[in-house]
Amino acid sequence: MRNFIVLLGPPGAGKGTQAKAISIRLELPHISSGEIFRENLKKQTDMGKMADKFIRKGQLVPDDVTITMIRERLSRTDCENGALLDGFPRTTGQAEALAQILNETQACVSCVPYINVPEHELIERLTGRWTCQAQGHVFHEKFTPPLQPGVCDFDGSVLYQRNDDKEETVIKRIQTYMEQTKPLIEYYQERGLLCEVDGSQSIEAVTHELLSAVCTEE
Ligand code: AP5
Ligand code: MG
Repeated sequence: MRNFIVLLGPPGAGKGTQAKAISIRLELPHISSGEIFRENLKKQTDMGKMADKFIRKGQLVPDDVTITMIRERLSRTDCENGALLDGFPRTTGQAEALAQILNETQACVSCVPYINVPEHELIERLTGRWTCQAQGHVFHEKFTPPLQPGVCDFDGSVLYQRNDDKEETVIKRIQTYMEQTKPLIEYYQERGLLCEVDGSQSIEAVTHELLSAVCTEE
């Protein structure tokens, strides 16, 4: 059965951290809209440069650009059996577009784990985050420090702080989430797809709860 899972949660909830852990277990490709934008910026594509103007301000990239990008990504052969979506959809318009894209191949969203973390914890998580230059591995200076400061444990590449992880941008991103993305909780609840996971536990405990939620929903 094809399995399209949408990971929902505010900035800093741990979507990327968890997606990296569970995508291997579920044998599904991890698709992060934020990472695709950052990759495009690194390559200096027109789309990457355009998206960066919004990302820097803590705003969402317009729906038409984001939906076109995800449509293309989902059409690749590695998504034949499904995908683990991290950071998409983020608006009701994107959720409706996703349903339409999947419907074109007789598929649908199978489950929407919502990683819930209190707002005050998000700022500390994001301002202390360090990300690996090469493959996006994620660390935290206090909660999950790398063995050697500034160096990725997994591939030895340089760790950097994301441009949008400055405190003022983080606050704006959380506000954007509250206004535009939070309504998706109700959207997916009404469709019987939402399952809430307590994201304030340890990373391992969240992974465990997430996997049981996803497997129950299957
Ligand atoms: P994106 O890259 O998706 O950012 P985000 O949603 O703001 O989420 P983050 O990546 O910041 O957090 P996360 O939940 O992945 O947490 P992480 O695992 O890293 O998007 C960036 C931007 O691109 C957006 O602002 C927007 O402009 C644009 N964009 C992207 N998608 C879009 C879309 N669909 N439409 C329009 N625009 C879009 O963890 C955070 C930190 O906490 C890490 O340091 C980690 O080590 C630590 N941590 C994780 N879990 C735990 C735990 N359980 N306990 C303690 N620490 C933990
Ligand atoms: Mg992320």
